[in-house]
Amino acid sequence: GQNEYVTVIVLGASGDLAKKKTYPALYSLAKHAFLPASTHILGYARSNLSTQDFTSRIQPGLKDSDPQRIAAFVSKLHYTHGSYDQPQDYANLDKAITQLENTHALPGQSKNRVFYMALPPSVFIPVANMLHAHCRAHNGAWTRVIVEKPFGKDLESSRELGRALAANWHEHELYRIDHYLGKEMVKNLISLRFANMFFGAVWDRHAIANVQITFKEMIGTEGRGGYFDEFGIVRDVMQNHLLQILTLVAMDRPVTLLADDVRNEKVKVLRCMRPIKTQDMVLGQYGPSEDGSKPGYLDDKTVPAGSKTPTYAAAVMFIDNDRWSGVPFILRCGKALNEAKTEVRIQFRDVPGGHMFPSTLSRNELVIRVQPKEAVYLKLMNKEPGLGYKQHIAELDMTYHERYEGVRIPDAYEALLLDVLRGDQANFVRDDELDAAWSLFTPALHEIDAGKIDPLVYPYGSRGPNGLIKFMAQYGVERDRTEYTWQPKTPK
Ligand code: BG6
Repeated sequence: GQNEYVTVIVLGASGDLAKKKTYPALYSLAKHAFLPASTHILGYARSNLSTQDFTSRIQPGLKDSDPQRIAAFVSKLHYTHGSYDQPQDYANLDKAITQLENTHALPGQSKNRVFYMALPPSVFIPVANMLHAHCRAHNGAWTRVIVEKPFGKDLESSRELGRALAANWHEHELYRIDHYLGKEMVKNLISLRFANMFFGAVWDRHAIANVQITFKEMIGTEGRGGYFDEFGIVRDVMQNHLLQILTLVAMDRPVTLLADDVRNEKVKVLRCMRPIKTQDMVLGQYGPSEDGSKPGYLDDKTVPAGSKTPTYAAAVMFIDNDRWSGVPFILRCGKALNEAKTEVRIQFRDVPGGHMFPSTLSRNELVIRVQPKEAVYLKLMNKEPGLGYKQHIAELDMTYHERYEGVRIPDAYEALLLDVLRGDQANFVRDDELDAAWSLFTPALHEIDAGKIDPLVYPYGSRGPNGLIKFMAQYGVERDRTEYTWQPKTPK
């Protein structure tokens, strides 16, 4: 609001995340007039740089053709350096923040602080403790802390991290990012489901045969294999991004859109689920591409020889409640695949008495295409136009760039940073939610970590490991009975 001044302190400002995501997102907010005028941004890292040197590193990431707008933003950027473990350095950081406040806050404005920890997890706890001891906002102004995954590696380490944070910080001060919650189409799930009468009426086990939530990437782990190997695809994508989408698809109507009402419903879903068993998973690891032009996962020198870390995972999960009992939720994610897309696919049951029609009917599917080329489309049977009476698949298609021509879809980080500035935690992960999510995956992850499962090798650039279709069919997933595929419309 008008009476608030905010300093956003980016810890780890010289790192990759800050450069690629945090600063560009802040810039985009400023560009579109969503960053309150009274905001200053202070970078903090170990490198001894001047503010000028620092901003010249950040600037190339701010894509814009308007030099004036860039200059206006750059005038809000500041930098100071220090260690992550010395109390004195945090006392200095506090001084630097206070100085900005004294220079830029208007009389009567409260002087709030957002700390964005763009840092490796090994320093989360000491940094959070030091920030509490030395750098909190004063005089009743608020302090918020943004943290990003990994939130531990399993239930136990996540709890340890949670306890350490909770020793000094209130839950309402902590913003745990799952950046999928900032994506436009993920945020849209609540509107689609609860603002439409007809979806509400079919959103359960009586009408839905299965739900498929899919994340596919074309790139492998090139360059960050060493980091990735400690985590694997289940921690990297499934346990967080896909599970978050699942809870939004499956939850009951929240009482209101307030953060805790929404998160209460999400937690209820997670607590109705059983921990995943490795027998209910397909794990894969990519090998070299068929033509040999792309390296396999194990060819990366930063990956330990013989690693069994999965780069692909499919898993089936069930929600034991009235709405979903018996409906398989199939989560799939992988790197180095044939295409890049994230989507939610709700497959409906067969129509009773469908044999009355001359042609084979396919099942209805509602697809929420998260990225790229955002769209919502409903596959349905339609009479083939003309004198005949056959049915074929057609679609009701809401492709975003067509329906919302010229509308800009903000980056997830941009949306989430704005939420932090506004104090809205609805799209952030609550402590009990995180705990429930880890509970579901920890037993399987421990088996995988112990090397008990040999991942199936799939070629770089392929559709994933063999046996997937069989795996899916086992849970009643029907492939199209025709050759239909939805084609994203190209912009005019
Ligand atoms: C990150 C994972 O959380 O999400 C990456 O660590 C993955 O491995 C990325 O590539 C995908 O995000 P997006 O926004 O590009 O779909």
